[in-house]
Amino acid sequence: MQNTPLVTALLVNKTLNRRRFHVPAHAGLPLGNYFRALSQQLGFSADLLAVDLTELDGLDVLSIPEGCIAESQALTAERYGVAHTFYSINGTSGGLHACLLASFQPDDAVLIPRNAHRSIIAGLVLAGLNPVWCEPIWHPDWGLWGGVSPETVEQAFKENPAIQGVIITHPTYEGLATDLEAIAKLCKTHNKRLIVDEAHGALFVWHKAFPLSACELPEVISADAVVQSPHKTGGSLTQSAWVHLPKGSAISARRLQQALNHLQTTSPSYLLLASLDLASAWLASVDFQQAVQWQLLRIQRLERQLQGVPSVRLLRKTHLPVLAGGRPALDETRFYLRHATLSGETMAELLETERGLSYESCNPYGALYLTSFQHEEADFQAFADGFSWIHQYAIAEETQQKMPFKLVEQVLFTMPEVVLSPRNAFFHAEVETVDLAEALGRISAETIVRCPPGIPVLLPGERIQPSHLSLLGQSGTVTVQVIVQ
Ligand SMILES: Cc1ncc(COP(=O)(O)O)c(C=O)c1O
Repeated sequence: MQNTPLVTALLVNKTLNRRRFHVPAHAGLPLGNYFRALSQQLGFSADLLAVDLTELDGLDVLSIPEGCIAESQALTAERYGVAHTFYSINGTSGGLHACLLASFQPDDAVLIPRNAHRSIIAGLVLAGLNPVWCEPIWHPDWGLWGGVSPETVEQAFKENPAIQGVIITHPTYEGLATDLEAIAKLCKTHNKRLIVDEAHGALFVWHKAFPLSACELPEVISADAVVQSPHKTGGSLTQSAWVHLPKGSAISARRLQQALNHLQTTSPSYLLLASLDLASAWLASVDFQQAVQWQLLRIQRLERQLQGVPSVRLLRKTHLPVLAGGRPALDETRFYLRHATLSGETMAELLETERGLSYESCNPYGALYLTSFQHEEADFQAFADGFSWIHQYAIAEETQQKMPFKLVEQVLFTMPEVVLSPRNAFFHAEVETVDLAEALGRISAETIVRCPPGIPVLLPGERIQPSHLSLLGQSGTVTVQVIVQ
């Protein structure tokens, strides 16, 4: 049995049966009358509310952990083979913010692929960093951005020696891995920090069928921080995440704790913390190995079933270049599918409304579905049936056209000139809205994301150039918020 110190401490607290003269005010009971019925319908039962606690005697303190939280974090660190693990109750977003604060000095330049998650932009504002944007790999067969190539990173280091560190997204939302080892080696050789946004990679260390995790890099080329959202893939409650400092990290544990303490609430939810304790133990258990083995078998069967549907194409690792080290370049528990003629949005919406299959995300080219170790045989079968149905539907609707699976040309996109850092742009007081035609040469005050290109066209502080205007014009944008200089 795996140890769960936080859950044990909560269970002990429950047995004490004390009268509660402390927060939270619901005191472990559903709210009165009408609201009691509503909360019970929602499942806010007295059982659940009884453990909705925050820091109390015997339950440790998240900002200075010495008891059950410290023990649970240490166990997770041991299970992941890293030097330290810290629990975040504000997702990977909060964990990344703390990493940026703890790793860099104000005005440092940091290399970031343009498809980075938006929490990184907030981190740049908080830490006062200057982004050096680079282009990730474009996959025209799928209409997706992937990881960043080692060549792109090396070139950026040559062109911009002031870069102090790199933030990479590994894997991407759709499960595409980055050549971690090559980038980690480059970072060590050039003495740059490496922060890995592994929000979708909490399972990677647990099975060789997954891409390599940054936690598994050898100590001599270790990443400096790895942030994961077990709430996305590992079974903990929404919002809960953890930050790992691998052995060999250049970030001091004291400094990361300090940064987290500046950002996190002083009333952490023990539902979230206990769920991290449980997920960590579950992932390290034999039960999980069995569950994932079962999931992988069902996935293989589903792949075969989908191969029999001619108008549907499923992204698999065989479509991607092999990465060094023999681990897959794709998390194949994620199903990104294209339909020959239907847009990703239409396919996803039809399958949701007509077949009850809810999706994770979609774009004009394809849709993303996440399989889980919690899915049952019937879920996998419903998925396969849904895609057979969409094939028949498209034939009946005569949407099968002559050019199936059109390649998605990469949109001509100019990486904008960063005039003001995200922080300076954020604190710039005066902003005006101008017609698109008048925006040329001005500095954007807003984030504008369009698909295509599926990455931010403009971020606050960036100069608006002719190619940005034509891209925004195509998507029907008529006005832009710009900074008044
Ligand atoms: C790549 C990536 N990084 C970070 C995040 C933020 O994670 P969280 O929702 O746990 O804050 C997300 C969320 O979707 C993400 O996709």
